[in-house]
Amino acid sequence: MPTTSLVHRPRRLRRTPSIRRLVRETRLAPEDLVLPLFIVPGEGVRRPVSSMPGVAQLSIDEALPVAREALDLGLGGIILFGIPKIKDSMGSDALDAQGIVQRAIRALKQALPDLWMIADTCLCEYTDHAHCGVIRDQEVDNDATLELLGQAAVSYADAGVDMVAPSGMMDGMVAAIRHALDGAGHTRVPILSYAVKYASAYYGPFRDAAENTPAFGDRRAYQMDPANRREALREAAYDVEQGADWLMVKPGLAYMDILRELRDRFELPLAVYNVSGEYAMIKAAAAHGWIDEPRVVLETLTGFKRAGADMILTYHALDAARWMKQP
Ligand code: PBG
Ligand code: ZN
Repeated sequence: MPTTSLVHRPRRLRRTPSIRRLVRETRLAPEDLVLPLFIVPGEGVRRPVSSMPGVAQLSIDEALPVAREALDLGLGGIILFGIPKIKDSMGSDALDAQGIVQRAIRALKQALPDLWMIADTCLCEYTDHAHCGVIRDQEVDNDATLELLGQAAVSYADAGVDMVAPSGMMDGMVAAIRHALDGAGHTRVPILSYAVKYASAYYGPFRDAAENTPAFGDRRAYQMDPANRREALREAAYDVEQGADWLMVKPGLAYMDILRELRDRFELPLAVYNVSGEYAMIKAAAAHGWIDEPRVVLETLTGFKRAGADMILTYHALDAARWMKQP
């Protein structure tokens, strides 16, 4: 006979792997993950990003086998960032039918028609000053930038991309892109809006990968203050009104509360960007042998899903999918 008669014994449902599996509430799958790729001009180019071990800038021919592996592993898709040969004040390469991302989309789409392909839609990798829009009087000119974002989105859609993802935090970017896409006959191309994007120090390593460190100032005049929660809800609501198909929160780890709150308040699918600094921290600790990398990665990604993300953009995507397949 037990010495006490407890009513609640939650441990009963944790005793064995089989019962734990039955009561598991969140299941991470390869199709939840989207792999970011950095595309550079040239052939046979594979340039490792020093602050992001395992990530490299790739020419289109080098990106192809990686994209094929993403498809074979069952990932949800890939998101493309382009680093053009020539940058200028307007970010012209972003709008050019022969631009680096447009060429990548055409090549990858032709080889892998079933791989869901997203184009990050912003000017900062293409402008010589590396701000997310055109500059007037030392500031990013919101409305002049909208015009260019619309043109960029149309050219990505013309090249065959499946979805565009505006990331510049310009007011009205979703409406402007929707209008431009529809006007060009691309009514079927959805918009994944980086609706809630904070001005974050966690983007540090990405700036090595995408070569988009601003030449002057910073992005705090358009990206959000990390301290703000209500403003995130407003940003999301504005993007829903403008016709966004999908909302994103970025970064992930320090903003899990925002992710959960958006999940509870909005009905659209939700994405989270597990950003470069979050990736770098795990890789650095793992390289020192201080953490168990596969377990920490899968735990982190499960946390995003539990917090409400339907899709997770992560540099761990290929590794994580492999680890999921060998339990
Ligand atoms: C630029 C952009 C950034 C990221 C995605 N798109 C960086 C920035 O705003 O400076 C960050 C991604 C990452 O850190 O992994 N529009
Ligand atoms: Zn940008």
